[in-house]
Amino acid sequence: MKKIILVGFMGAGKTTLGRILAQRMNIGFVDTDDLIVKEEKRPIKDIFAKEGEAYFRRLETEQIKKLTKSKKSMVISVGGGLPIQPQNQGLLKELGCVIYLKAGKETLVKRLSRDTRRPLLQGGSVEEKVEKLMKEREHVYEHLADRIVYTDGKSVGEAVSMLQKECADIRF
Ligand code: S3P
Repeated sequence: MKKIILVGFMGAGKTTLGRILAQRMNIGFVDTDDLIVKEEKRPIKDIFAKEGEAYFRRLETEQIKKLTKSKKSMVISVGGGLPIQPQNQGLLKELGCVIYLKAGKETLVKRLSRDTRRPLLQGGSVEEKVEKLMKEREHVYEHLADRIVYTDGKSVGEAVSMLQKECADIRF
């Protein structure tokens, strides 16, 4: 059963667009961060602070493994760091069609500048952090993706419509 997996940088709109896309396609929606927060009963910030990043990354892999067992069609939005872990890349491909929601640095910095929830962005310049992480990650997203959708300068409605077009030929 094919699923649609949205990957991309923090602030790219994976969760917002994914939820609306799923509604429009009349299929389910899950977000790996939400699944983790629900199971752990604490915010991601607390998980990072108390257990460290490696622990959080293990939880991400557990969630994505569980999703490979599900036969349901759905849109899955995954945390920005999940596709970077090599052990997750095969699992993502196994799940279905991987779409990279791509946004430029300026757009991301604008959206993320006041963020208080994402542990990797706290303290110091958001712009520098985004720039460094983008350098490390962008090529991984690009390599992994079956399709790329650019969201710069698009409204939520426009971006979802573009995504929907990209997904029109996916057979569930
Ligand atoms: C992370 C992205 C976050 C969340 C965590 C780590 C990352 O998800 O999983 O804060 O490493 O890029 P979003 O991409 O949904 O913000």
